[in-house]
Amino acid sequence: MKKWGILIVALIMVTSVLAACGQNKNNAGGNAPATENQGAADNGGSNGGAGKKLILGLSADFPPYEFRDSKGEIVGFDVEIAKEIAKDLGAELEIKDMLFDSLLNELESGRIDLVISGLSPTPERAEQVDLSKIYYKAEQAVVTVTENKDKYATMESLEGVKIGVQKSSIQEDIAKEIAGAKLTSLGKISDIIMQLQTGRVDAAIIEGPVAESFVKNVDGITITDAKPVTEDEGYVVGVKKGNTELLDQVNTTLDRLIEDGSIDKFVTEASELAEQ
Ligand code: ARG
Repeated sequence: MKKWGILIVALIMVTSVLAACGQNKNNAGGNAPATENQGAADNGGSNGGAGKKLILGLSADFPPYEFRDSKGEIVGFDVEIAKEIAKDLGAELEIKDMLFDSLLNELESGRIDLVISGLSPTPERAEQVDLSKIYYKAEQAVVTVTENKDKYATMESLEGVKIGVQKSSIQEDIAKEIAGAKLTSLGKISDIIMQLQTGRVDAAIIEGPVAESFVKNVDGITITDAKPVTEDEGYVVGVKKGNTELLDQVNTTLDRLIEDGSIDKFVTEASELAEQ
């Protein structure tokens, strides 16, 4: 009897440890996309959209485009744009946070409906997915530690140095064109900033507004005078190839937001939020 008792206690312990492990994997698993429901836009709106869901994929490492606020909620001007698209569709918006380099594959496989993640339009991407019109434009920036601001003031000065970029980004393409540059491609911008601070990379190429946001919030780093140029200018929304219905709606909503000045307003608000 006693033996059985011990056995049962042991079994219960093993099961609960296993269950806890399972939970951990779901909550904190490195690449497991974190899902978040954002206050549904007009659910059950005019076109009987009750129950319709719009799944947005993004990489929330990119203030002021998409990032987590002090409460851990995903915010940013891309998120505001997505809310407007959902509202116009009469759908509920669900957000999946994942690594930037997995977004387009998730879109292709249909696990997400759209990508709004500071996505630049490249010819390769246009082949893989359908892209909307450009909704915003920004320049590229070179970030380094403050004492090296003058050392890396031109694009030529980056030749042969260690450069950090986000994996599968256009910044990776830009860095590949720099003679002799040694690239470190990482999943998250925050990891690139850490590499800079610890001297494992000499410079990083990042979108201007994002660079500004990090420079304001992180001590000891700065933007240099070097100006990376790219032909893949601006930001677009990505949808699955052939989903013209959604693409048309996205473009209609973007037209409205560009014309009435909402996008500029969203950018200003998100930049302020990112500074807090
Ligand atoms: N604009 C760049 C690109 O399309 C970088 C975008 C990165 N976005 C992000 N949310 N981390 O490649």
